[in-house]
Amino acid sequence: MIPPGDVESFRQADEVQAILREELVDVADDRAELPHRRHAGEVVTAPTDPVTLAEHRERKNARARIPARPLTIDPTLRAHYYNRRFLDRPPLASTREWVVGAWATGAYWKNSNPLHGAYPRTYLERVHAMFPDARHVLHAFSGGLGIAEAIAAYSSGIADPGEMTVAPESIELIDLKGPDEGRHPTWQGDVLSMPAEWAGRFDLVLADPPYTPEDAARYGVPMPDRLAVTRALRRVTMAGGVLAWLDTVWPMHRKEEWRCWGHVAVVRSTNHRVRLCSLFEAV
Ligand SMILES: C[S@@+](CC[C@H](N)C(=O)[O-])C[C@H]1O[C@@H](n2cnc3c(N)ncnc32)[C@H](O)[C@@H]1O
Repeated sequence: MIPPGDVESFRQADEVQAILREELVDVADDRAELPHRRHAGEVVTAPTDPVTLAEHRERKNARARIPARPLTIDPTLRAHYYNRRFLDRPPLASTREWVVGAWATGAYWKNSNPLHGAYPRTYLERVHAMFPDARHVLHAFSGGLGIAEAIAAYSSGIADPGEMTVAPESIELIDLKGPDEGRHPTWQGDVLSMPAEWAGRFDLVLADPPYTPEDAARYGVPMPDRLAVTRALRRVTMAGGVLAWLDTVWPMHRKEEWRCWGHVAVVRSTNHRVRLCSLFEAV
């Protein structure tokens, strides 16, 4: 807030108002190009925004620091790969910049993975369907998922599985806990301490962390810091690679590291939490 009586701040406030007015004129110009939105006599007024000039500039600079380059991922193509595989399901919608949709997976009473919060039915197959070109896959917070199921889901995404061989080093599963506690990682340890030689190794990373401190307590682990985890995952992902993060929130991330290009709601059944799969490209 601008402290009353601070002349310099009032001068800055005037400048902010001028900038906001300019931006509003830009918006109004854009609107004018949309005939159905044009209102005769529309008055454009600058809002009384409490932002200071310094904050406003900082925001603009932060935006300028994000490399202005197109996504390597073409969301339209990714949606197409999914849509052609799940023909009987509502298609994902896409633009050149963004994918949205909803997956109703249904309950999974026969799930061989008994862990609390196990992946919903067909979730892995649906994600893999979008990435038939992924070759080096990491499952972070892999829980009760086993390598055999991980390979099966990976293979289901390949157009012609007969032509595919899964090299043993293609897939890694990470969890803090081991087989004694119903987890089956290929590398047991903290996702924040992955081996240095994994830098830039993966082109598809799937993460399914505990969603709340209560869930973390059920797993007997501390609640992970989402920002720290997305940073750690960026280190092991090659530029242009993808992170598919399943959670009940859109995870905190640095825009300099991850560019979000998709949101898919994952709905299980009544009285269950609705999850969100957020899709990011490694910048
Ligand atoms: C939501 S469960 C994953 C469930 C999994 N998708 C499945 O189908 O079984 C979260 C898992 O993350 C693990 N975990 C929690 N914090 C971790 C950390 N910092 N590093 C590695 N694993 C962690 C827990 O042990 C737990 O198995």
